[in-house]
Amino acid sequence: MTNEQIERRLKELKKLGYIVPNMKILKSRVQLDGIKASGDINSAVLDYVVSKVEIGMSTEEIDDMVFAKTKELGGIPGTLNYEGFPKSSCTSINDQICHGVPSKKDILKDGDIVNIDITTIYNGYYSDSSRMVMVGNVKEETKKLVQVAKECIEVGLNEVKPWGFLGDMGHAVNEHAKKNGFSVVREVGGHGVGFAMHEDPFVSYVSKKGTEMVMVPGMVFTIEPMINMGTCRIRMDRQNGWTIYTKDGLPSAQWEVTVAVTEDGYEILA
Ligand code: MF3
Ligand code: CO
Ligand code: CO
Repeated sequence: MTNEQIERRLKELKKLGYIVPNMKILKSRVQLDGIKASGDINSAVLDYVVSKVEIGMSTEEIDDMVFAKTKELGGIPGTLNYEGFPKSSCTSINDQICHGVPSKKDILKDGDIVNIDITTIYNGYYSDSSRMVMVGNVKEETKKLVQVAKECIEVGLNEVKPWGFLGDMGHAVNEHAKKNGFSVVREVGGHGVGFAMHEDPFVSYVSKKGTEMVMVPGMVFTIEPMINMGTCRIRMDRQNGWTIYTKDGLPSAQWEVTVAVTEDGYEILA
Protein backbone atom coordinates (compact mmCIF):
# COMPACT_ATOMS: atom_id res chain seq x y z
CA MET A 1 0.00 0.00 0.00
CA THR A 2 1.17 3.51 -0.72
CA ASN A 3 1.27 6.16 1.98
CA GLU A 4 -1.76 7.82 0.41
CA GLN A 5 -3.73 4.57 0.56
CA ILE A 6 -2.77 4.06 4.20
CA GLU A 7 -3.71 7.63 5.06
CA ARG A 8 -7.11 7.24 3.40
CA ARG A 9 -7.80 3.96 5.18
CA LEU A 10 -6.82 5.47 8.55
CA LYS A 11 -9.22 8.37 7.99
CA GLU A 12 -12.04 5.95 7.32
CA LEU A 13 -11.24 3.84 10.38
CA LYS A 14 -11.03 6.95 12.55
CA LYS A 15 -14.47 8.04 11.38
CA LEU A 16 -15.76 4.65 12.46
CA GLY A 17 -14.41 5.29 15.96
CA TYR A 18 -11.23 3.23 15.91
CA ILE A 19 -7.99 4.40 17.50
CA VAL A 20 -5.48 4.93 14.68
CA PRO A 21 -1.82 6.00 14.67
CA ASN A 22 -0.73 9.43 13.58
CA MET A 23 1.06 9.12 10.21
CA LYS A 24 4.08 10.74 11.89
CA ILE A 25 4.87 7.64 13.95
CA LEU A 26 4.91 5.34 10.91
CA LYS A 27 8.39 4.42 9.72
CA SER A 28 9.60 4.11 6.11
CA ARG A 29 11.71 1.14 4.95
CA VAL A 30 14.87 3.23 5.32
CA GLN A 31 13.87 4.19 8.85
CA LEU A 32 13.04 0.58 9.75
CA ASP A 33 16.51 -0.39 8.54
CA GLY A 34 17.94 2.33 10.77
CA ILE A 35 16.10 0.96 13.81
CA LYS A 36 17.22 -2.56 12.87
CA ALA A 37 20.86 -1.45 12.81
CA SER A 38 20.36 0.01 16.28
CA GLY A 39 18.62 -3.21 17.35
CA ASP A 40 21.52 -5.31 16.08
CA ILE A 41 23.81 -3.45 18.48
CA ASN A 42 21.27 -3.79 21.29
CA SER A 43 21.10 -7.57 20.70
CA ALA A 44 24.88 -7.94 20.47
CA VAL A 45 25.28 -6.11 23.79
CA LEU A 46 22.68 -8.38 25.40
CA ASP A 47 24.37 -11.50 23.95
CA TYR A 48 27.67 -10.40 25.43
CA VAL A 49 26.40 -9.33 28.84
CA VAL A 50 24.10 -12.33 29.33
CA SER A 51 27.04 -14.67 28.67
CA LYS A 52 29.03 -12.98 31.45
CA VAL A 53 26.47 -12.96 34.27
CA GLU A 54 27.46 -15.11 37.25
CA ILE A 55 26.88 -15.57 40.96
CA GLY A 56 28.56 -12.81 42.99
CA MET A 57 28.42 -10.19 40.24
CA SER A 58 26.85 -6.84 41.09
CA THR A 59 24.27 -5.25 38.82
CA GLU A 60 26.65 -2.29 38.55
CA GLU A 61 29.20 -4.60 36.93
CA ILE A 62 26.52 -5.64 34.45
CA ASP A 63 25.80 -1.98 33.75
CA ASP A 64 29.50 -1.19 33.23
CA MET A 65 29.66 -3.96 30.60
CA VAL A 66 26.54 -2.60 28.88
CA PHE A 67 28.06 0.86 28.72
CA ALA A 68 31.45 -0.32 27.42
CA LYS A 69 30.05 -2.77 24.84
CA THR A 70 27.47 -0.30 23.51
CA LYS A 71 30.19 2.33 23.02
CA GLU A 72 32.54 -0.19 21.44
CA LEU A 73 29.86 -1.03 18.87
CA GLY A 74 29.25 2.65 18.11
CA GLY A 75 25.98 3.09 19.99
CA ILE A 76 24.80 5.32 22.83
CA PRO A 77 23.05 3.81 25.87
CA GLY A 78 19.57 5.30 25.71
CA THR A 79 18.62 5.15 29.37
CA LEU A 80 21.73 6.97 30.63
CA ASN A 81 20.45 10.32 31.95
CA TYR A 82 17.04 9.69 30.42
CA GLU A 83 14.66 11.74 32.56
CA GLY A 84 17.26 11.50 35.31
CA PHE A 85 17.78 7.73 35.12
CA PRO A 86 21.43 7.30 36.17
CA LYS A 87 22.50 4.11 34.36
CA SER A 88 22.94 2.43 30.96
CA SER A 89 20.60 -0.45 31.76
CA CYS A 90 17.73 -1.51 33.97
CA THR A 91 18.53 -4.60 36.04
CA SER A 92 15.51 -6.00 37.86
CA ILE A 93 16.02 -8.88 40.27
CA ASN A 94 13.31 -11.31 41.54
CA ASP A 95 10.41 -9.21 42.91
CA GLN A 96 11.62 -6.12 41.05
CA ILE A 97 9.23 -5.88 38.12
CA CYS A 98 11.14 -3.29 36.09
CA HIS A 99 13.39 -0.20 36.21
CA GLY A 100 15.80 -1.73 38.69
CA VAL A 101 18.71 0.68 39.05
CA PRO A 102 22.11 -1.04 38.76
CA SER A 103 24.07 -0.82 42.01
CA LYS A 104 27.27 -2.06 43.65
CA LYS A 105 25.08 -3.19 46.51
CA ASP A 106 22.94 -5.57 44.46
CA ILE A 107 24.94 -8.78 44.24
CA LEU A 108 23.50 -11.70 42.27
CA LYS A 109 23.11 -14.86 44.30
CA ASP A 110 22.31 -18.48 43.56
CA GLY A 111 18.66 -18.88 42.52
CA ASP A 112 18.08 -15.26 41.47
CA ILE A 113 16.40 -14.25 38.25
CA VAL A 114 17.36 -10.91 36.69
CA ASN A 115 15.97 -8.94 33.79
CA ILE A 116 18.49 -6.90 31.81
CA ASP A 117 16.76 -4.19 29.78
CA ILE A 118 18.68 -1.93 27.44
CA THR A 119 18.01 0.74 24.84
CA THR A 120 20.50 1.68 22.14
CA ILE A 121 20.61 4.90 20.15
CA TYR A 122 22.43 4.53 16.84
CA ASN A 123 22.36 7.11 14.06
CA GLY A 124 19.47 8.71 15.92
CA TYR A 125 17.39 5.52 15.94
CA TYR A 126 16.20 3.87 19.16
CA SER A 127 15.81 0.16 19.84
CA ASP A 128 14.76 -1.49 23.09
CA SER A 129 14.87 -5.10 24.24
CA SER A 130 15.42 -7.17 27.33
CA ARG A 131 16.08 -10.71 28.48
CA MET A 132 15.98 -12.76 31.65
CA VAL A 133 18.98 -14.51 33.13
CA MET A 134 18.64 -17.33 35.64
CA VAL A 135 21.51 -17.34 38.12
CA GLY A 136 22.68 -20.74 39.39
CA ASN A 137 19.95 -23.11 40.58
CA VAL A 138 16.54 -21.54 40.14
CA LYS A 139 13.39 -23.06 41.71
CA GLU A 140 11.13 -24.97 39.32
CA GLU A 141 8.17 -22.61 39.76
CA THR A 142 10.41 -19.60 39.08
CA LYS A 143 11.87 -21.29 35.98
CA LYS A 144 8.32 -21.77 34.76
CA LEU A 145 7.62 -18.07 35.31
CA VAL A 146 10.63 -17.12 33.19
CA GLN A 147 9.59 -19.61 30.50
CA VAL A 148 5.97 -18.45 30.38
CA ALA A 149 7.08 -14.80 30.19
CA LYS A 150 9.17 -15.79 27.15
CA GLU A 151 6.27 -17.68 25.58
CA CYS A 152 4.14 -14.56 26.03
CA ILE A 153 6.40 -12.79 23.51
CA GLU A 154 5.72 -15.50 20.91
CA VAL A 155 2.01 -15.53 21.67
CA GLY A 156 1.92 -11.72 21.29
CA LEU A 157 3.96 -11.73 18.07
CA ASN A 158 1.47 -14.19 16.55
CA GLU A 159 -1.16 -11.45 16.74
CA VAL A 160 0.94 -8.75 15.08
CA LYS A 161 -0.43 -8.14 11.60
CA PRO A 162 -1.50 -5.09 9.63
CA TRP A 163 -5.05 -3.89 10.30
CA GLY A 164 -5.37 -6.02 13.43
CA PHE A 165 -5.68 -4.46 16.88
CA LEU A 166 -3.12 -4.06 19.63
CA GLY A 167 -5.87 -5.35 21.91
CA ASP A 168 -5.77 -8.72 20.10
CA MET A 169 -2.10 -8.98 21.02
CA GLY A 170 -2.59 -7.86 24.62
CA HIS A 171 -5.51 -10.21 25.08
CA ALA A 172 -3.51 -13.20 23.82
CA VAL A 173 -0.65 -12.41 26.19
CA ASN A 174 -2.96 -12.05 29.18
CA GLU A 175 -4.74 -15.32 28.40
CA HIS A 176 -1.44 -17.20 28.15
CA ALA A 177 -0.25 -15.85 31.50
CA LYS A 178 -3.56 -16.57 33.23
CA LYS A 179 -3.74 -20.09 31.80
CA ASN A 180 -0.42 -20.78 33.54
CA GLY A 181 -1.58 -19.32 36.85
CA PHE A 182 0.31 -16.04 36.55
CA SER A 183 -0.80 -12.40 36.38
CA VAL A 184 0.11 -9.47 34.14
CA VAL A 185 1.10 -5.99 35.31
CA ARG A 186 -1.47 -3.41 34.21
CA GLU A 187 0.04 -0.02 35.00
CA VAL A 188 3.31 -0.42 33.10
CA GLY A 189 3.37 -1.57 29.49
CA GLY A 190 5.05 -1.28 26.15
CA HIS A 191 5.38 1.70 23.86
CA GLY A 192 6.09 2.92 20.39
CA VAL A 193 9.83 3.31 19.74
CA GLY A 194 12.26 4.26 16.98
CA PHE A 195 12.49 8.04 16.73
CA ALA A 196 12.53 8.30 20.54
CA MET A 197 12.69 5.95 23.51
CA HIS A 198 9.01 6.21 24.28
CA GLU A 199 6.47 7.11 21.60
CA ASP A 200 2.78 6.50 21.09
CA PRO A 201 1.03 4.17 21.58
CA PHE A 202 0.98 2.84 25.13
CA VAL A 203 0.85 -0.94 24.75
CA SER A 204 -1.22 -2.90 27.26
CA TYR A 205 -1.01 -6.65 27.82
CA VAL A 206 -4.35 -6.88 29.59
CA SER A 207 -6.43 -5.41 26.78
CA LYS A 208 -9.43 -6.87 24.98
CA LYS A 209 -9.74 -8.20 21.43
CA GLY A 210 -10.80 -5.59 18.90
CA THR A 211 -9.76 -2.67 21.14
CA GLU A 212 -6.78 -0.30 21.33
CA MET A 213 -4.84 1.06 18.35
CA VAL A 214 -5.10 -0.42 14.88
CA MET A 215 -1.78 -1.94 13.76
CA VAL A 216 -0.52 -0.37 10.55
CA PRO A 217 2.50 -1.18 8.34
CA GLY A 218 5.42 0.93 9.55
CA MET A 219 4.30 0.99 13.19
CA VAL A 220 7.09 0.04 15.60
CA PHE A 221 6.44 -0.86 19.23
CA THR A 222 7.65 -3.10 22.03
CA ILE A 223 6.18 -6.30 23.37
CA GLU A 224 7.32 -6.47 26.98
CA PRO A 225 4.72 -7.93 29.31
CA MET A 226 5.66 -8.15 32.98
CA ILE A 227 4.46 -11.51 34.31
CA ASN A 228 4.01 -11.98 38.06
CA MET A 229 3.91 -15.23 39.97
CA GLY A 230 1.37 -13.84 42.42
CA THR A 231 -0.64 -10.65 42.49
CA CYS A 232 -0.54 -8.18 39.61
CA ARG A 233 -0.46 -5.36 42.17
CA ILE A 234 2.65 -3.22 42.26
CA ARG A 235 4.53 -0.87 44.55
CA MET A 236 7.03 1.84 43.64
CA ASP A 237 10.38 2.37 45.36
CA ARG A 238 9.89 5.81 46.86
CA GLN A 239 13.59 6.18 47.64
CA ASN A 240 14.89 6.04 44.07
CA GLY A 241 11.62 6.96 42.35
CA TRP A 242 12.19 4.34 39.63
CA THR A 243 12.03 0.73 40.64
CA ILE A 244 8.71 -1.08 40.61
CA TYR A 245 8.18 -4.13 42.82
CA THR A 246 5.49 -6.74 43.19
CA LYS A 247 3.20 -5.90 46.10
CA ASP A 248 3.41 -9.44 47.51
CA GLY A 249 7.16 -9.89 47.12
CA LEU A 250 6.80 -12.83 44.71
CA PRO A 251 8.98 -12.86 41.58
CA SER A 252 8.21 -11.18 38.26
CA ALA A 253 9.70 -11.94 34.85
CA GLN A 254 9.86 -9.99 31.58
CA TRP A 255 11.31 -10.31 28.10
CA GLU A 256 11.12 -7.51 25.55
CA VAL A 257 11.34 -7.21 21.78
CA THR A 258 11.04 -4.26 19.42
CA VAL A 259 8.73 -5.23 16.55
CA ALA A 260 7.65 -3.56 13.31
CA VAL A 261 4.30 -4.16 11.63
CA THR A 262 4.91 -4.99 7.96
CA GLU A 263 2.67 -5.41 4.90
CA ASP A 264 2.31 -9.12 5.61
CA GLY A 265 2.96 -9.57 9.32
CA TYR A 266 5.83 -8.41 11.47
CA GLU A 267 9.59 -8.05 11.67
CA ILE A 268 11.62 -8.20 14.87
CA LEU A 269 14.02 -5.24 15.01
CA ALA A 270 15.54 -5.84 18.46
N1 MF3 B 1 13.81 0.08 28.54
C1 MF3 B 1 12.69 0.49 29.36
C2 MF3 B 1 11.42 0.11 28.63
O1 MF3 B 1 11.32 -0.99 28.20
C3 MF3 B 1 12.70 1.93 29.62
C4 MF3 B 1 13.58 2.30 30.70
S1 MF3 B 1 13.42 3.93 31.03
C5 MF3 B 1 14.40 4.13 32.35
O2 MF3 B 1 10.53 0.86 28.42
F1 MF3 B 1 14.51 5.38 32.50
F2 MF3 B 1 13.87 3.51 33.39
F3 MF3 B 1 15.57 3.59 32.11
CO1 CO C 1 13.19 -1.83 27.62
CO1 CO D 1 10.44 -0.79 26.37
